[in-house]
Amino acid sequence: MSFALEELFVEAQKAALSAYAPYSRFRVGAALIGADGRIFTGCNVENRSFGLTICAERGAVMYAVSQGCRSFTALAVAALDSLVPIPPCGACRQVLSEFMPPDARVYFGGSSSKRVDTTIGVLYPFDSLHDLAL
Ligand code: THU
Repeated sequence: MSFALEELFVEAQKAALSAYAPYSRFRVGAALIGADGRIFTGCNVENRSFGLTICAERGAVMYAVSQGCRSFTALAVAALDSLVPIPPCGACRQVLSEFMPPDARVYFGGSSSKRVDTTIGVLYPFDSLHDLAL
C-alpha cells in the first residue's frame, strides 16, 4: 500500500506545479483515489481577496464530484515549498470527511522525503456524518 500511496503523492506533486499562489508562494497539490479507481487532482488557487483562496484538497474534491465520483479511499497532499509535511486544514478536513470513510488514508509530505501516513478519521474524529448516524 505504501508504494501506491507514494505514487499518489507523485500525482499530487505534479498537480502542485499548476498552483496559482502568487501571494503565499506556497504551492500545494492534492490527489484523490476514487472508489472506482480514478485519480483526481487539484492545486491551490489563491485570490487577491485572500479569504477566497481554495486549497488543493478542496479543489480536488470539487473536481472529482463534478466528474461523478463521490467516494475516496485515499488522499495524498504535496507541499512543494515546505520542508515539513503539511496536513489538510480544518475546513478541508470537514469537506473530505463528507466523501471519505474514517479509515480512508491521508498521506502528506513536503519537499523532503518525510511522509505522514494517517487517516481522515484521525485527522477529523467524531464527525456528524459517520459517528452520529442512528
Ligand atoms: N494550502 C493548501 O492548498 N492546502 C493545505 O493543506 C494547506 C494550505 C494553501 C492555501 C494557500 O494558498 C497556501 O497554501 C498558503 O496557506
